[in-house]
Amino acid sequence: MQANNAAINILAIESSCDETAAAIYSNGKILANIIAGQAVHQQYGGVVPELASRAHQQNILPVVEIALQKAGILKTDLTAIAYTQGPGLIGALMVASSFAKSMAMALEIPLLGIHHMQAHILAHFIDEPRPLFPFLCLTVSGGHTQLVVVKDYFEHEVIGKTIDDAAGEAFDKAAKILGIPYPGGPLIDTYAKTGNPDAFKFSDTKLPELNYSFSGLKTSILYFVQKQMAQNPDFIKDNLNDLCASVQKAIVKQLMHKLIKAAKQTGINQIALAGGVSANSNLRNELALAGKTNNWDVYIPKFEYCTDNAAMIAIAGYHKYLKGLFEPITSAPFAR
Ligand code: KG4
Ligand code: ZN
Repeated sequence: MQANNAAINILAIESSCDETAAAIYSNGKILANIIAGQAVHQQYGGVVPELASRAHQQNILPVVEIALQKAGILKTDLTAIAYTQGPGLIGALMVASSFAKSMAMALEIPLLGIHHMQAHILAHFIDEPRPLFPFLCLTVSGGHTQLVVVKDYFEHEVIGKTIDDAAGEAFDKAAKILGIPYPGGPLIDTYAKTGNPDAFKFSDTKLPELNYSFSGLKTSILYFVQKQMAQNPDFIKDNLNDLCASVQKAIVKQLMHKLIKAAKQTGINQIALAGGVSANSNLRNELALAGKTNNWDVYIPKFEYCTDNAAMIAIAGYHKYLKGLFEPITSAPFAR
């Protein structure tokens, strides 16, 4: 199958952390969304930047080729190439950035530099139902926790954020304390399903306004577990599901508390969730509940668009393309 020449065909590439991903967006549809993960980091309990860059270099060509093949699009049919410009690991970002630049140059087509966090939010525009501007988005990933007023595709105002750990980081660090391998967030979610969320209480830092803090919670979990282990070395093993459910409840409670406050403050009732932690089942349920209580229209992303993917880079690229917001070939990736 060959693509219709009149269509806008966007190839998108994402390599900001430990996933090499490529997607094709054409005629209002994602035709391919390919992700290669990197198992190499598991043994280190976190992402090792240099190993991530190397794995991206190995994966990028096959991932792009598979995406084109799956979409049935020839590279000569591409209209533009979108890539994640930042934020992320600088060495990792450089892989997609140089790949996208050389391919765009060779094909003589425009380049679209995409902000990773904006793309997480714009994933809501891949399918129906799409939120209406302005909407409020709780953006929660491994590196960010932000309350964002989304006024237009590329007009995003951050009205609250974490002053220390991100929500995903809080999940991953709590998991590490509990001996759960990286990334711990999804496993905490799984174990929590059969645990009692009220079994243990942890203290957390309460900040004024709309900001978050998760480092106090992490310390509270650590000290509590250490104290219990002194009496019962099997404490974690004996209580893993209850511990996970209680940790998850503490994180989600904090996230929801400020989100509700932000909705009241701004008067916005279009509420969305974005980023890796939006895959969390407890957060998704709590948002749906709060939506009913507060009369919100809630937008919860499909699972494949929660954690890092290139479909979100493609949709952001498509809207940049429509606005003619092209990236010069000299432009550099940014870590922060
Ligand atoms: O957006 P993302 O894929 O990458 C970044 O941009 O950081 O987010 C990754 C984060 C990790 O911290 C991971 O543990 C967390 O999202 N995460 C989850 C779940 N799935 C992914 N946290 C809690 N529950 C989940 N189901
Ligand atoms: Zn992300």
